[in-house]
Amino acid sequence: MTRAEPVIRLAEPGDLPAITEIYNHYVRETHITFDVESYDWRDRQAWFGRFDAAGRYPLLVLTEQGRLVGYAHALPLKDRAAYDTSVETTIYLNPDAGGRGLGTRLYSALLARLETRDIHKAYGLIALPNAGSLALHEKLGFVKVGLLHEVGRKFGRYYDVQWVERTFENRI
Ligand SMILES: CC(C)(COP(=O)(O)OP(=O)(O)OC[C@H]1O[C@@H](n2cnc3c(N)ncnc32)[C@H](O)[C@@H]1OP(=O)(O)O)[C@@H](O)C(=O)NCCC(=O)NCCS
Repeated sequence: MTRAEPVIRLAEPGDLPAITEIYNHYVRETHITFDVESYDWRDRQAWFGRFDAAGRYPLLVLTEQGRLVGYAHALPLKDRAAYDTSVETTIYLNPDAGGRGLGTRLYSALLARLETRDIHKAYGLIALPNAGSLALHEKLGFVKVGLLHEVGRKFGRYYDVQWVERTFENRI
């Protein structure tokens, strides 16, 4: 059976349980995020409220046959005003959805949207090792700019974080 084409769209409040479930997998099982406690989606309303579809901070989801299998977003890099033209981006797919090009599609859609905003730089923070994330970021134009040594501790050990940066050339 052929798979239906994935759909990429802006997130809606009803997506919050599925988004949280995907994220919680990586919180519990991996060092990929430095959150250490799972979330209840009901406590994520404030987080969801930070997104701004028309502005610099979109939250996109990817669905296959109606099932949400991934999400990607931009959020402020820092809260001081001169940082406004820089965002931090990230992406999470359900663990069974990797390796089929969905990450490329979803992250490309996010970056295309950012390209039309007053954004000069996007940054990814990749806790190492994470070959998949590094490969995806580099494929889509991010370059390595800095390595923070043993900056986070999870599961009783320290992890390095690779900063990667993408420049939007057509900025206003
Ligand atoms: C990172 C992630 C989004 C990648 O999504 P994906 O759908 O597997 O990526 P794609 O299939 O589009 O592959 C993108 C590129 O990365 C490469 N790649 C994917 N996984 C890889 C791996 N484990 N090792 C090396 N390269 C890998 C692919 O070959 C592809 O390159 P190509 O087109 O030149 O062949 C996905 O693996 C994921 O959700 N991981 C867990 C969450 C995470 O790490 N998020 C990022 C936090 S910084």
